[in-house]
Amino acid sequence: MADLTVLIRQALSEVAACGDLAALEEARVRWLGKKGTLTEELKALGSLTAAARPAAGARINAAKSEVQGAIEARRDALARAAIEGQLAAGRIDVTLPGRGEEPGGLHPVTQARLRIETLFRRAGFDVASGPEIEDDFHNFGALNIPPNHPARAMHDTFYFADGRLLRTHTSPVQIRALQEHGAPLAVIAPGRVYRCDSDMTHSPMFHQLEGVVVGEHISFANMKAALHGFLQAYFERDVAIRLRPSYFPFTEPSAEVDMSCVFCEGRGCRTCKHSGWLEVSGCGMMHPNVLKASGVDPERFTGYAFGAGIDRLAMLRYGVNDLRLFFENDLRFLRQFRRFSA
Ligand code: FA5
Ligand code: MG
Repeated sequence: MADLTVLIRQALSEVAACGDLAALEEARVRWLGKKGTLTEELKALGSLTAAARPAAGARINAAKSEVQGAIEARRDALARAAIEGQLAAGRIDVTLPGRGEEPGGLHPVTQARLRIETLFRRAGFDVASGPEIEDDFHNFGALNIPPNHPARAMHDTFYFADGRLLRTHTSPVQIRALQEHGAPLAVIAPGRVYRCDSDMTHSPMFHQLEGVVVGEHISFANMKAALHGFLQAYFERDVAIRLRPSYFPFTEPSAEVDMSCVFCEGRGCRTCKHSGWLEVSGCGMMHPNVLKASGVDPERFTGYAFGAGIDRLAMLRYGVNDLRLFFENDLRFLRQFRRFSA
């Protein structure tokens, strides 16, 4: 019989040298397989004397299980190394900067709003705000629109079950600002408003710009000058305006503000429906009932108010022909406004 000690040492060093599972399997077959070296040793037991056989058999079996153990340990080590290799290869460094990031930009309606705020602040106005979920009193009642008044039908109102509503205009901020600060006062209130309304020039959520000026000698002429000055500054060019008689329950007299079309300079085009004029705002002298409802003495104070569509002002300034583009969040559209600044 071969020297077992030498065989074991040789087997263990071969197992230790196996670099992968296939090589390890070959080594197992070579040593422990049906025709493996140690298996052949067992077969050779028959040539020994009966007395020598048990001890020799035990030594060979011990050798086999030692080699078997080494193979299993090596298999575990190789499997662990394989998993660690896979993990290392698939490792993600979450601290690396992302690829393809671009600078964002302000939404065109936000740019228009900020620009409007800057222009009015320069003219001495404060910027006020109010809640988008309003009560009936501020949205209608205090604005001289009692229950069952036909003007309520002009506002396609979204109501909540408890009687509150999504404000249909920014005019309730007239009431809130006067209740809070009293007269005299000059504020604008830009914000979101909601109406059940949707087409190329109407969206269910849109933005209005409320303006309110209350003082002891505030006149219709002051209002006209403020609106004209604002539109010239906003569009950075000479524009003509005209005031068309109109009706709002909360102003008397009331008017619609038209400005000369910024696309055709008044000659007539599709945007202005060939009239040369664009409607940009409602306005008027505050109704005494509105001043009273806000706690202001209408014998002492007068005031004007106006309500313009910010989205429309943005469309005109940036040459956008469909209001809905502002609210679809299509990046191809929005990217075009990155270069503009408020
Ligand atoms: C009002 O909402 C009045 N509160 C305005 C006002 C304020 C008048 C103060 C007098 C004194 P009107 O419903 O016309 O009025 O809306 C004002 C402006 O909002 C319109 O000129 C238009 O530019 C814009 N607008 C109205 N409906 C929509 C809509 N669905 N989508 C986008 N813009 C709209
Ligand atoms: Mg109108």
